[in-house]
Amino acid sequence: MAKTVGILTGGGDCPGLNAVIRAVVRASDTAGWDTVAALEGWRGLVDGNFRDLGTQAVSGILPRPVVGVPKTIDNDLSGTDYTFGFDTAVTIATEAIDRLHTTAESHNRVMVVEVMGRHAGWIAVMSGIAGGADVILIPEQPVDFEKVAHNIRSRHARGKNFSIVVISEGCELPGLEDGGEVDQFGHVTLAHRGVGELLGREIEQRTGFETRVTVLGHVQRGGTPTPRDRVLATRYGLKAAALAHAGEFGQMAALRGDDIVAVSLEEATAQLKTVPPEWYAVAQAFFG
Ligand code: F6P
Repeated sequence: MAKTVGILTGGGDCPGLNAVIRAVVRASDTAGWDTVAALEGWRGLVDGNFRDLGTQAVSGILPRPVVGVPKTIDNDLSGTDYTFGFDTAVTIATEAIDRLHTTAESHNRVMVVEVMGRHAGWIAVMSGIAGGADVILIPEQPVDFEKVAHNIRSRHARGKNFSIVVISEGCELPGLEDGGEVDQFGHVTLAHRGVGELLGREIEQRTGFETRVTVLGHVQRGGTPTPRDRVLATRYGLKAAALAHAGEFGQMAALRGDDIVAVSLEEATAQLKTVPPEWYAVAQAFFG
């Protein structure tokens, strides 16, 4: 049987996935390995739903262990400095914040921007810092509506007549009713909770300033990846291919500093990588 690498993607789409697949196929081809894709993620592996990526052999893939790449816009995987897809999501969110600045200023409004990230506030913190947000709320930090209102009031008292507030979809808010819906993978779905809308209402009531809410949603995940994500994903793909060819299963390609290394899947999935207080402090330095 020819030596074969099987590729599948689990969970949702992510900017940079194509770069990973391209790198795995190219590196495998160069090393004399065939590549096949399992369609529909893990389901395809179980059902034997494969597509040849320019190769022949398919059988025998199911029982092999796996090697992984850190694929998520949320950047919440421990074991790697950055996941691929994150830079693209932050870039899109930052551009949105930039655009909201001008319309906020021209209408003297408070603009609330709800971004993705699940239970980690990385997208909110990074895009908020980059976009010059006046308040940033993340799941890792308790939310106090009165503090938010105070920050906005004091900013307006200094002569600024608009504000930008970024909130991460996973924030727990006082008075928020959590329906506890789960998706097909058993993950709680967070977007439907409407944290942005609730925050917007609270800000308007407490400050009297006209407030509008923008929920960025899936635009953060679609479209073309940034050059940084393309390069990172390509490096991850080459590393994953090398691990598979060497039979080093149970590993994930990871970024440490500027190096691509292998970490065990146990280490990579051991705990959620959340935003540490020192990163939030960078954002807080510009609140109000
Ligand atoms: O994990 C990536 C992510 O985009 C999260 O930021 C978000 O909560 C979730 O997926 C959305 O999932 P779905 O595409 O199933 O609505």
